Amino acid sequence: MTTLINVDNTPRGPEARERWCSEQLEEGNILFFPETPFELPENDREFLLSQQQSGAAYHKNIAYRPRQDRLTGFSKHGREDQERLRAIMRAYSGSVTQFLSALLPQYAGAWRLDFASFRPQEEQGRQLRLRARNDLLHVDSFPTRPTQGDRILRIFTNINPTQPRVWLTTETFEGLAQSFLGPGGAAEALSQRAKSTKSSGGLGRALVKLGCALGLPVADSSPYDDLMLAFHHFLKENREFQETCPKTRWEFPPGSTWIAFTDMVSHAVLAGQFALEHTYIVSGSALVLPHKAPVSILESLIGHPLANQWAEGSRQ
Ligand code: SIN
Ligand code: FE
Repeated sequence: MTTLINVDNTPRGPEARERWCSEQLEEGNILFFPETPFELPENDREFLLSQQQSGAAYHKNIAYRPRQDRLTGFSKHGREDQERLRAIMRAYSGSVTQFLSALLPQYAGAWRLDFASFRPQEEQGRQLRLRARNDLLHVDSFPTRPTQGDRILRIFTNINPTQPRVWLTTETFEGLAQSFLGPGGAAEALSQRAKSTKSSGGLGRALVKLGCALGLPVADSSPYDDLMLAFHHFLKENREFQETCPKTRWEFPPGSTWIAFTDMVSHAVLAGQFALEHTYIVSGSALVLPHKAPVSILESLIGHPLANQWAEGSRQ
């Protein structure tokens, strides 16, 4: 089961601290900072808190793409507000990345900056389609951004001045994979189902490869990504699991920050409004416990490689 690790109690010295933090994260724990550990100007926080929901229910949040300096999901507001929000998200992306790079330099040397997001909607009672619901326990897999076995590292900050953000966790990916994907489990069936229902199977996959070769922005997923996405859906659709699995409830107070590999830490958000989040895709080469990575766990359960690139390029 996932536990919360208060970073105030880490070993001293940057190297021992980095090693310890990496191990905690890779084992499936959450690193917790009671206070925001990076610069977030009060004016920016106030502006974010004044933003109303964007209205369009299909937008789960407002996303910022740091590599393109682009904002999406912000539909209803004037140009001036959009520019201000973009500037705030740009500054947030810069300062949170600087903080995380100092804490975890080995990851930072081998990560790709993914999206940042601002989450202005109240999570309790949100009406989303089942697979998009975040109040059901799951491990993350992004259909539009396959990782080829690399890891999804995310940092969250609750900027709500009065209300906590409430999460549930259950067993980590390791335990879930053993329960559901172990001998006699559903892994192969899930993998096959994923391939036959997604558009990048068969001829589709050949086209995706061609698109990649031509430099087009198409997602090239590996069998690992297909399986992780199928597992994400499987967990959300599994009512018995959702109702009966052992759960731990976490309340992240106003101003606190937490970090997790969300492809390893199962999670559901039950309540809370106004959070900032940033995602990094960490290469397998930077892990201190590569045998704990979901791709390694799946490959040893299934008995064959699922992400060749990762196996050849990243693992020692
Ligand atoms: C998620 O399920 O990935 C989102 C969690 C959150 O917004 O707190
Ligand atoms: Fe998630």
